[in-house]
Amino acid sequence: MAVTQPAVIPAIPEATLRRLEQVIPPVELALHLPLIEEIQRLKREVGAVVLAHNYQTPEVFHGVGDIRGDSLALAVEAGRVEAPVIVMAGVHFMAETAALMNPERTVLIPSLEAGCSLAESITAEQVRELRREHPGVPVVTYVNTSAAVKAESDICCTSANAVEVVESLGVPRVLMIPDRWLARWVAANTEVEIVAWDGSCVVHERFTAADVAAYRTQFPGIVVLAHPECPSGVLEAADVVGSTSAMVRFVRERRAERVALITECSMADNVAAEVRDVEIVRPCTVCPYMKEITLEGIRDALREGRHRVEVDPEVAARARRAVERMVAVGRGRRG
Ligand code: 13P
Ligand code: SF4
Repeated sequence: MAVTQPAVIPAIPEATLRRLEQVIPPVELALHLPLIEEIQRLKREVGAVVLAHNYQTPEVFHGVGDIRGDSLALAVEAGRVEAPVIVMAGVHFMAETAALMNPERTVLIPSLEAGCSLAESITAEQVRELRREHPGVPVVTYVNTSAAVKAESDICCTSANAVEVVESLGVPRVLMIPDRWLARWVAANTEVEIVAWDGSCVVHERFTAADVAAYRTQFPGIVVLAHPECPSGVLEAADVVGSTSAMVRFVRERRAERVALITECSMADNVAAEVRDVEIVRPCTVCPYMKEITLEGIRDALREGRHRVEVDPEVAARARRAVERMVAVGRGRRG
């Protein structure tokens, strides 16, 4: 009698392996593969999906990420997850956003040290104080903030939609918190008057216009893409300014011969794993918060159900309104 073998589901799809081999040396990859397999098994057992930000290392991003993207995509997709558990391979504000967009799910973050210098630069009380100083002026809040700060806001924005969100309000003046460089960039691209807070990203504020000039000298013809959290001089010297996903899209679709990605270092690796015919020049500036997330941490989060991220329901309801209002602006544009 013929024996039917049970179908064997490969723990690591072939396409994922090819991507990882592209950017991770063999000795290192050999150490990651057993962990990736274990995480894939644990995800099935627990009923979990891993949301991975573009700044995660390739073994996390390509190896175990189920939903991958920029902070806007992760916020929108978090609200659609049907699995009982969401593991955020990103930073704490992203996990809070997932929790408030999908309060029925258990949201885990593998490390409580995965913070963000922008999120730490402003408190809810400071937003209330700003409102007292500027009565009637709406508050537009970058998603890189705590849920408590979002709850004090009229609407959120990300680097992918900031100008559009500001203009959607139809007012002459807005308060924009907390990133001063993003605020300046928006101010340069709209007629709306922008009153900015003084926060900044410790990763992006290190780039200078001289870095861009040096790339152009070293690599003639290079296309320079910069994240709007970079200082104004960098943005003025760049060819394209956009969110992490806008940069990925540019590389995938335009296929320029050589590009420089002026942003966090791992993103260039993640793009290079996938797009092989574009030379990617990568300034290796690392976000120490994003690097708190490791394969070991994700495995332990799944094994032990930690660290659960919960937002007070009253704060979550107000913060959710600000995030949903932002998402609706994008929907309106798409019709
Ligand atoms: P994106 O919204 O472009 O993904 O950026 C998030 C972030 O933390 C940038 O530093
Ligand atoms: Fe925050 Fe900057 Fe790190 Fe993004 S790169 S998470 S803005 S510190």
